[in-house]
Amino acid sequence: MVRMNITHERISILGLGAMGRALAGALLEAGREVTVWNRTPGKAGDLVARGAREASSVEEAIKAGDLTVVCLLDDSSVRETLAPVAPKLDGRTLVDLTSGSVRQARELAGWLKGYGVRFLSGGIMAVPPTVGTEGAFILYSGARDLFDRVAPVLSPMARPHWVGEDPGFAALYDMAALSGMYGIAAGADHAVAMVHAEGGDVETFKREVLGLWLEQMLPFMVVGAEASETVLEDSNPGMQATGLETMLAASEEAGVPAELVGHLRASLWRMRHAATVA
Ligand SMILES: NC(=O)c1ccc[n+]([C@@H]2O[C@H](COP(=O)([O-])OP(=O)(O)OC[C@H]3O[C@@H](n4cnc5c(N)ncnc54)[C@H](OP(=O)(O)O)[C@@H]3O)[C@@H](O)[C@H]2O)c1
Repeated sequence: MVRMNITHERISILGLGAMGRALAGALLEAGREVTVWNRTPGKAGDLVARGAREASSVEEAIKAGDLTVVCLLDDSSVRETLAPVAPKLDGRTLVDLTSGSVRQARELAGWLKGYGVRFLSGGIMAVPPTVGTEGAFILYSGARDLFDRVAPVLSPMARPHWVGEDPGFAALYDMAALSGMYGIAAGADHAVAMVHAEGGDVETFKREVLGLWLEQMLPFMVVGAEASETVLEDSNPGMQATGLETMLAASEEAGVPAELVGHLRASLWRMRHAATVA
């Protein structure tokens, strides 16, 4: 049986790590009826004080909700948690916000479909303190009609954003966005290491230079290929190639291994090539 109407907005959360607790808190704040479960008991204290009900088993938690949000460590913890109850999930709605790979999300969707579960996969674009705040959003993928039904119920956690029918797409965009973030974070770490190694004032550099510079350049880096092409077109490729060489040399002079930004050499060669054929 497929339950198409979520009348009471009763939501169950599996997982009370930092993120599960933040999600449950945002839902409680919005007046949702929340049941929580965690593998290790004793983590629901504050949430219970705020009105949540603590279930003593996964099955009890899932039964208490019109829909269940799963937020565990990784894909194998989700499998481990759901496997014993999977045969009893026919007609249930599950939203998995656990980080995973594209293949894992697709396989989980297929596995749960076999048990008659209506399933959405998600990727949380927030950290616990930003859950429920304006900038936070969550990527969802899976059936559009299910998303339309679930989105208003879960919107207090973060703005819901559907990215496609393919259950792997939320994970795809989540992981790709993380790659962008870690790339910037790694570059920033490298920058700070250079300043530190040459005796500069790291705090001043971060506050008065790096933050402002990244803020200024971010729109050009992320608004799409068109924007980054425009940046490259507007700046002489030969100049950029020389600039990158100078930056790598400065890193070596400072004794900071350049492996972290070494992949930039590939762009450098492309720019050099572009400069010679131009
Ligand atoms: N925190 C963030 O900034 C952030 C941001 C975006 C996405 N996420 C994603 O959200 C998910 C949860 O993150 P978190 O910050 O809440 O992590 P966390 O604080 O480390 O909590 C991990 C949760 O997973 C449970 N767990 C681990 N292994 C399990 C197993 N084998 N069976 C059942 N439960 C198991 C833990 O239960 P116990 O208490 O029993 O150990 C705990 O509830 C992760 O996939 C993470 O990538 C987190």
